[in-house]
Amino acid sequence: MPIAGIYGPDDFADRPQGQTISSSRAVPPARTAQPLPMPSLEWTPEVEQATAPLYERVRHVIPPVEWPLMAPTIRAINELKRARNAVVLAHNYQAPEIFHCVADIGGDSLQLAIEATKVKADIIVQCGVHFMAETSKLLNSDKTVLIPDARAGCSLAASITGADVRLLREKFPGVPVVAYVNTSAEVKAEVDICCTSSNAVQVVESLNAPSVIFLPDRYLASYVASKTDVKIIAWKGACEVHERFTGEELRAFRDADPSVQIIAHPECPPDVLAEADFTGSTAHMINWVRERRPRRLVMITECSMADNVRAELPDVEMLRPCNLCPHMKRITLANILQSLLTLGEEVTIDPVLAERARRSVERMINLRN
Ligand code: 13P
Ligand code: SF4
Repeated sequence: MPIAGIYGPDDFADRPQGQTISSSRAVPPARTAQPLPMPSLEWTPEVEQATAPLYERVRHVIPPVEWPLMAPTIRAINELKRARNAVVLAHNYQAPEIFHCVADIGGDSLQLAIEATKVKADIIVQCGVHFMAETSKLLNSDKTVLIPDARAGCSLAASITGADVRLLREKFPGVPVVAYVNTSAEVKAEVDICCTSSNAVQVVESLNAPSVIFLPDRYLASYVASKTDVKIIAWKGACEVHERFTGEELRAFRDADPSVQIIAHPECPPDVLAEADFTGSTAHMINWVRERRPRRLVMITECSMADNVRAELPDVEMLRPCNLCPHMKRITLANILQSLLTLGEEVTIDPVLAERARRSVERMINLRN
């Protein structure tokens, strides 16, 4: 059914102005952290030999001429991870040289949140956007969580504040609130439970309520509403990458080749999802491609994911409208290396707020058990 209502900042005359969106801070390296010296980044026969197995993983998507520019940094990062007892978590939208060559764990938001609960290392380097680093910190308060560029935000997380959630609760007393993980810790602290695009319908239905406030993505909210009888009250947020796709664009791909398969992320508008052969989270999309092995495929999501999938499955031809997430692309090999050398920028969250936010994330993770 269609969503039951949609609200945004303009619907609350008494909405406080000028509040902070993010409750956590990325801080410069602690004064006690010993910066390590910059290693040599020369392309030598030894580097070539040591990184050859990694090049095998990406040779279908990174031309040989570019590898000598990346390999010395990749090698330095992998050595520093051992020296610092660090792990690198990377989202599916990270570039292939990060996702396939330096990440210890890759996946969608749900997989990264679950893996973050199992980390044994002292340091987590989050290659993704800020809310993902905050989620890792919430689940690892005793560990150092680093984000190579703290400006890596998200239009969804920036669309809503904790005060907005309180206003929604006043307007709909007693209605439970589900927050997509693409929110700040401050918002997570105000809600009943989190979800990702992998488990949004399951989370909504787990509440056994006739109505649920689902925020902040209006399009994920309408996708969930189309899959459940629960009444969905939505927020007017949108992903700046996925909202740019259009149904017309997808029809043009199909008109050019009727055999093409099209799969889309549920952050896309409904007219886009109506044209898709499959809708799912980034991990569900990847699994779909692994199982179906389509000959020609259009992935309606962030562009780097098509490279990551093609690196693994070169027989699948990708036709791509290339929408990049500018926030995800702030993370580079160069700043991952810098992050490990200086232990910056560290993500910190106010402990009282973190305690409340953690409950919403853990409630989601525990649903699986
Ligand atoms: P996933 O949970 O599907 O990985 O999506 C996260 C995201 O930011 C998509 O834009
Ligand atoms: Fe946020 Fe969209 Fe970028 Fe995902 S792709 S991190 S939802 S802006």
